[in-house]
Amino acid sequence: MSILTILTLPDKRLKTVAKPVEEFDESLKLLADDMLETMYAAPGIGLAATQVDQHIQLVVIDVSEDNSEPLVLVNPRIVEKNGIQKHEEGCLSVPGIYASVKRAEHVKVSYQNVIGESQELEAEGLLAVCIQHELDHLKGIVFLDHLSVLKKKLALKKLEKVAT
Ligand code: NI
Repeated sequence: MSILTILTLPDKRLKTVAKPVEEFDESLKLLADDMLETMYAAPGIGLAATQVDQHIQLVVIDVSEDNSEPLVLVNPRIVEKNGIQKHEEGCLSVPGIYASVKRAEHVKVSYQNVIGESQELEAEGLLAVCIQHELDHLKGIVFLDHLSVLKKKLALKKLEKVAT
């Protein structure tokens, strides 16, 4: 396994819309394993393939305290959502910046696992936040895009300062 390079803003490749996965082969399994390792090393609780410059619909998530609940979601779709929650979010592609984002409290996701079997998952709280955040990445959206224009501008300015 290996640690992958994570793209950070303002890298335009983060705006790429990911394509569906069609082949459930060994290279998909390897990429998912590398993404989990990269996420744990960062450390983070979620990582989308988009963030490692692989533009396919694949995300990995683990919101447990001890890295014991790895989730690999291929071609994920939110099929149901309800309620509202606000959570302070961060992102490995937006280092050092945190902001409160409004999301659904509860989501139901249909997806395929790494060998192509159809699965369904219901989530709430932090896991629901993480799923919505990572699925956004597959559409080329980062959490700052949910903020007001002014708040986003301030965040990007701060990001510039952190980077230099
Ligand atoms: Ni992110």
